[in-house]
Amino acid sequence: MPNTDSAKLAAGKHAAALVENGMHVGLGTGSTTAFALEELGRRIREEGLSVVGTPTSSASERMARRVGIPLVSLDEVDRLDIALDGADEVDPDLNLIKGRGAAHTREKIVASLADRFVVLADESKLVERLGVRAPVPVEVLPMAAHPVERALARLGGAAVLRMGQRKDGPVVTDQGFWILDVTFEGIDDPDGLNAAIKQLPGVLDHGLFVHLASDVIVGQENGTYRVISTDDST
Ligand code: 5RP
Repeated sequence: MPNTDSAKLAAGKHAAALVENGMHVGLGTGSTTAFALEELGRRIREEGLSVVGTPTSSASERMARRVGIPLVSLDEVDRLDIALDGADEVDPDLNLIKGRGAAHTREKIVASLADRFVVLADESKLVERLGVRAPVPVEVLPMAAHPVERALARLGGAAVLRMGQRKDGPVVTDQGFWILDVTFEGIDDPDGLNAAIKQLPGVLDHGLFVHLASDVIVGQENGTYRVISTDDST
């Protein structure tokens, strides 16, 4: 197994161990969370763990069905006990950039409804300042892509329309929207940028997750993990 996968596996297994009988769990998207979903499926099969999950994307829905996690939609519940999800960048205040998988809009809804939002990462995701490596994905109504791109430039961001791989044309999200990947080369004020992007007409949501994460599980290549909590970062 590649070293990064050992770190992701360690984070995923520990995250799945936090889930208790009867819990309602938010099921994140991405290669790190996939290890947690696999482990949850194993616990359901082998330990008789009884949980229900709410997926954050068509990808996590497919994965949950494959590993045998029973699903409910947000129509059927008011809140979740815990949500497990990955991240592209994590800063010392546990603010995040998410959305490499274009699932950040649903991921943010699910995370915001959870009593505890646990982020799964490896050391490569930890940064001193958000935006130094990862762009901020902005989910936009296709007809608004150009005006939003110009507005993002006024906020200091360089936007590129995300194009499909092995599909011609733009990436189309689960909501039928497009993604602008916006490079800021370092974000000094995540709170301010969060609000500024969110209020642009035509923007559905974006990948800055500010003050949402409760804990970050950082998997290590030697198969161990460490946990950073909001309590530690204040
Ligand atoms: C998808 C996401 C993912 O959680 C994030 O990109 C991390 O993915 P991975 O664990 O594969 O690195 O936000 O929209």
